[in-house]
Amino acid sequence: MSTLITNIAELMTQDTEHRVLQDAAIVIEGERIAWIGAAADAPAADDAVDGAGRALLPGWVDSHTHLIFAGDRTAEFEARMAGEAYGAGGIAVTTGATRTTGDFDLTRLALGRVAEAVAQGTTYLETKTGYGLDVDNEARSARIASTVADEVTYLGAHLVPDGLDAEDYTDLVCGPMLAAVRPYVRWADVFCERGAFNEDQARRVLQACRDAGLGLRVHGNQLGEGPGVRLAVEFGAASVDHVNYLSRADVHALADSWSGWEAAAGAGERGTVATCLPACDLSTRQPLAPGRELLDAGVQLALASNCNPGTSYTSSMAFCVTTAVLQMRLSVHEAVRAATYGGALALGRETGNDVDGERAVGSIAVGHRADLHLLNAPSATHLAYRPGMPLTHAVWRAGVRAR
Ligand code: NIG
Repeated sequence: MSTLITNIAELMTQDTEHRVLQDAAIVIEGERIAWIGAAADAPAADDAVDGAGRALLPGWVDSHTHLIFAGDRTAEFEARMAGEAYGAGGIAVTTGATRTTGDFDLTRLALGRVAEAVAQGTTYLETKTGYGLDVDNEARSARIASTVADEVTYLGAHLVPDGLDAEDYTDLVCGPMLAAVRPYVRWADVFCERGAFNEDQARRVLQACRDAGLGLRVHGNQLGEGPGVRLAVEFGAASVDHVNYLSRADVHALADSWSGWEAAAGAGERGTVATCLPACDLSTRQPLAPGRELLDAGVQLALASNCNPGTSYTSSMAFCVTTAVLQMRLSVHEAVRAATYGGALALGRETGNDVDGERAVGSIAVGHRADLHLLNAPSATHLAYRPGMPLTHAVWRAGVRAR
């Protein structure tokens, strides 16, 4: 079954050549992109969709969410808006609610959040454990996550539960808990911050998870300068997320991690992506991450929603893109790239075509997964020009119309 989408005013590929086509068309065949080019040259297909002068982008790749939770933290949010600072302790409130919610309801809640994201143009999505914080509940969260999300990250090292010794809990995270989640997860993460895990504990978690064959990421430099970025680069983590408070050395370390990499040639070692979470920054009244400075230094950037009940209760990638343009001084093309290709890079899913096992996501090229987002606007610029407007017209996820 093939589908031709034609009469596309602007087709932003976010491919390795950063191509933007005007008056374009695209053909989807099954789950893959089969053809891209000028609308006038488009081949016939089984089915046709009139793009009607709209813009087409890759679907959003949301590389940082925490969707496996129950409960609500409205009161904490209200207190924060009244002047209280965010602290990691709120995680315990969600952990309590999550532990007392059954599998069926926890799955239903997570699926509802995924559906909200897809309806807004997200076509590939990571989610984490981290509100279970004991062996059974982390394993349960990982199992449920593996049924609702494309990528799953183990975040047993989110907070030391009340009453437990931090060193003992770190042993648990690195030992029995890791073994219990391992069948369900591809990534591991650690919240390396004051009030969560210190450098030594984070190092132990990263080492154990790497030894277990997991890819790594780090929650780092969210609430102040600290060792998160440095550790992420040292361990070759795929991403370090938050990155609000960076020293010059942090920026240089991130930039250096990409120095031998050539995207177009697919050559060299991939570095550590800096993942900015602007919705979280606004909701916690933290300074926005220095996305402009990072890009100018040569760092690869991702934008993600960080959807969670404590610091960022939204899955709107469009809101993140809008904020990145209006407040972080990214161009529209840069912001869309960070929310598509950048997310794929953070998840190690930026390459792959007809001859590879897995198809690339986050960019539009022949052989890549047909993850597409048709805007109800003639150009991607409208995402920033018309902030907050519902601009998602249609979504294809692995070639299937999802909206
Ligand atoms: O990414 N920073 C740590 N974890 C989440 C917040 C978790 C919570 O407060 O529930 C985040 O912002």
